[in-house]
Amino acid sequence: MRSLIDILELSTEELDSLLATADDIIANPQKYAHKCDGKKLATLFFEPSTRTRLSFEAAMYELGGNVLGFSEAQSSSAAKGESVADTAKTVSCYADIIAMRHPKEGAPLVASMNASIPVINAGDGGHNHPTQTLADLLTIHREKGHFDNLTVGLCGDLKFGRTVHSLISALRRYNNVKFVFISPNELKIPSYVKESLKKEGIKYTETTDLEAVMPELDILYMTRVQRERFFNEEDYLRLKDSYILTPEKLTNAKADLSILHPLPRVNEISVAIDNDPRACYFKQVLYGKFMRMALILMLLEVE
Ligand code: CP
Repeated sequence: MRSLIDILELSTEELDSLLATADDIIANPQKYAHKCDGKKLATLFFEPSTRTRLSFEAAMYELGGNVLGFSEAQSSSAAKGESVADTAKTVSCYADIIAMRHPKEGAPLVASMNASIPVINAGDGGHNHPTQTLADLLTIHREKGHFDNLTVGLCGDLKFGRTVHSLISALRRYNNVKFVFISPNELKIPSYVKESLKKEGIKYTETTDLEAVMPELDILYMTRVQRERFFNEEDYLRLKDSYILTPEKLTNAKADLSILHPLPRVNEISVAIDNDPRACYFKQVLYGKFMRMALILMLLEVE
């Protein structure tokens, strides 16, 4: 039995296989409509979500399975003090697979150590969000056809943005990927990430100036400033609008730039960009469902 807590647990071959399965689901949805008949997914969300929870649920329904769960800690026995370990043991009696989001880093790992069914990390604190990365990878692959030789700009809250940390972990394994980190000084990418990139000879640059680096980017991954991870509201208010992508700021961008955002968007991308053919963030939402279908099939070992 296998869980997914960190994107690094998937080999490059397994990522390629998940991408191929997702492509096949998109092309032949009927082939997959009964693959999970009789199976149940439990969505245990201790933190708010629209996309991740609903796409997991839609994924299981489209595979023929069923869904149970809760969408906030207050409606579970966590509100009475139940531990994550006991919750995982309990839900193992009712479901075949768990998707868990939790504000505390490591909570899904604890769940996986106590559950007798696979656990998928659906986001833990500022740590990891592997299934968002799967959505990001499918979006990039369908837009570009490959991962090698891409210059990837990551912009916004690079300190607390768990989707950024997971995406770097996934893309760094491909050839000649270059990262451009664009953030205010207070929200820079953590040093441990830079140290490990340096160690492997992976190229990266850091800047506060989005427009200056725009012409070199193949991918622009915008992120929200993570209000819920700030200790101080004043700091959040000062930093929240550090980067707002507008049509004017795309003047010098490549014609085939792909603009991604894990969403929710607050103010980082002007709605005037939504109809630009380079805007990929709503496709990214849709692709997330197909990658979660592929992942459920893999972890449940469905042929
Ligand atoms: N991208 C993402 O995790 O969105 P939700 O918080 O709505 O699940």
